[in-house]
Amino acid sequence: MQELETLFDSVYLLKKGKQSTLVTRNLTPGITYYGEPVFSVDKVEYRSWNPTRSKLGAVILKGLKEMPIKPGSLVLYLGVASGTTVSHVSDIVGEKGHIWGLDFAPRAVRDLLDNVIRHRKNISPILGDARQPASYSTLVQPVDVVFADVAQPDQAKIIVDNARYYLRKGGHIMLSIKARSIDVKENPKNIYEGQINVIEEAGFIVNETIDLHPFEKDHAMVIASS
Ligand SMILES: C[S@@+](CC[C@H](N)C(=O)[O-])C[C@H]1O[C@@H](n2cnc3c(N)ncnc32)[C@H](O)[C@@H]1O
Repeated sequence: MQELETLFDSVYLLKKGKQSTLVTRNLTPGITYYGEPVFSVDKVEYRSWNPTRSKLGAVILKGLKEMPIKPGSLVLYLGVASGTTVSHVSDIVGEKGHIWGLDFAPRAVRDLLDNVIRHRKNISPILGDARQPASYSTLVQPVDVVFADVAQPDQAKIIVDNARYYLRKGGHIMLSIKARSIDVKENPKNIYEGQINVIEEAGFIVNETIDLHPFEKDHAMVIASS
């Protein structure tokens, strides 16, 4: 007997006996993206979302209270890589939403195009540098959420600079902080505080800060509103 528990709009826990699996409803039934298992419930296909390969998946399982990315959301995704997480974001925002997925690694954007975007109309790829938000201003509309997973020493500044350009009033930012990208010796908690200061000094209100352990070591996610 399997049962679906709704965590957020379009995000579910599939419960089967003692096992619980985070899943999204597959916008492209029959097609998977990174070897993820699929499940059928009442003839609808759901894709397993691996929290050890996706910080967004991890933060949901770590008890995220409010999910800014919803059906119909417009999202600027910085550090989209080859598309593991964005495939689930695409499931969530659905056909009425859109994602602009940016990465500066040509190989990652090529894999994203070949493996994910050719099956999905709600993602636009951008080969670009997140430190230069003005350089893609002709491609991106004002968005509801700026999400960043760039693993760079200036990760908070990068998301704040992009939010100034692209975030609509009342929108949210979601920053995945990799402590080791900033300092390998410093206590990660001090690093998270330093990044939160950058976000607050830019005028954002921090709603939640969640450590991603045990899914990701020395990572946290900060969710803030404008
Ligand atoms: C940790 S990986 C992202 C994984 C991805 N978010 C996922 O969950 O599937 C970080 C990505 O950020 C990209 N990146 C780092 N600095 C960047 C920058 N300044 N501009 C654009 N992309 C950047 C890297 O090329 C890499 O693909």
